[in-house]
Amino acid sequence: MNAPLLNTRVPDHPVAEIFPARWSPRAFSEAVMTEDELLLLLEAARWAPSASNVQPWRFAWGLRGDAGFAAIAGALVPFNRAWAEKSSALIVVASRRVRDGSEGVVDNPWHGFDAGTAWGYLAMQAQMSGFHAHAMGGFDHAVAAQALGLPEDHALHAVVAVGKLGDPARLPEALRARETPSLRMPLAALAGRGQFPA
Ligand SMILES: Cc1cc2nc3c(=O)[nH]c(=O)nc-3n(C[C@H](O)[C@H](O)[C@H](O)COP(=O)(O)O)c2cc1C
Repeated sequence: MNAPLLNTRVPDHPVAEIFPARWSPRAFSEAVMTEDELLLLLEAARWAPSASNVQPWRFAWGLRGDAGFAAIAGALVPFNRAWAEKSSALIVVASRRVRDGSEGVVDNPWHGFDAGTAWGYLAMQAQMSGFHAHAMGGFDHAVAAQALGLPEDHALHAVVAVGKLGDPARLPEALRARETPSLRMPLAALAGRGQFPA
């Protein structure tokens, strides 16, 4: 099960509990994740909306102990590798920068926006399935591209560690202190009626 919703994360409006309950831990338990459990998360991502239904998101994944996991872990910056190596699965999120139009291959300006939506769906399904997903921008793109056979017209976005909550006491001290769900800016600082907040 996921950690109970901490009372430090109280929404200003009564959203479904899963939104504030989702968070990104670094203490993972080295639990085994099955291929079916992993595919369930990617299936959720597959149902994300995208511009013209192009579905530009692409994923490369590995399960703890397999060659794909090792290849993805090898691309992480040392700070991330130190904790993410204990996760159950690593997923690289990419997207195809172009799409096949009626006049041939054209740019798809929304590929990154759509890949972000898909990662959000994946993270929410992970939460609903009793896992946690933690995205990372800290990885070497060239190493990941080479190791995973990234096609030329794709862009890399993030690596996602998925796993079950582990014991925070096993984290390095600096990370242990940060192992708690973060807060959010007030909604009024993010959204304005009729104009953007200053
Ligand atoms: C695109 C992206 C890149 C991130 N990169 C890293 C990273 O390299 N290392 C890390 O520890 N966390 C990383 N994070 C996690 C964020 O710091 C975290 O999601 C944010 O602080 C909000 O916390 P929460 O997910 O627990 O709500 C990243 C998150 C996203 C969405």
